[in-house]
Amino acid sequence: MKIAALLAACAMLGATAAYAADADILTSKGCVKCHAPDTKKVGPSIKDMTAKHKDNKNAVDDIVAKLKSGKGHPKASGSDEELKAAVAASIGR
Ligand code: HEC
Repeated sequence: MKIAALLAACAMLGATAAYAADADILTSKGCVKCHAPDTKKVGPSIKDMTAKHKDNKNAVDDIVAKLKSGKGHPKASGSDEELKAAVAASIGR
């Protein structure tokens, strides 16, 4: 039941609406310098990162750890909350 409700919520949001809502945190944290919604810049597109991590439940925590350590990703600054929100937005969650 929970999954059905989640799927319904996702369908209502729609991919385009999700990008628009998420643009603020990705802009304020500077992520957009290297990541664009649909095209590869310095880093992969939001679309590709979303597809890559869609089945990984721990993706947000794993990637936040990379951003904080600077290993496997350019180091990013910000609070845990900010980085979690930015990473979630960058992989479509
Ligand atoms: C200086 C450029 C740069 C900035 C700024 C940047 N990224 Fe990245 N990002 C990259 C590159 C390059 C990769 C590909 C690294 C790789 O997977 O080897 C990447 C990969 C990623 C991935 C995929 C990681 C994976 O394991 O698949 C995510 C998610 C991500 N970035 C999120 C963010 C977020 C959120 C921010 C803002 C806080 C951000 N990035 C800022 C360059 C950048």
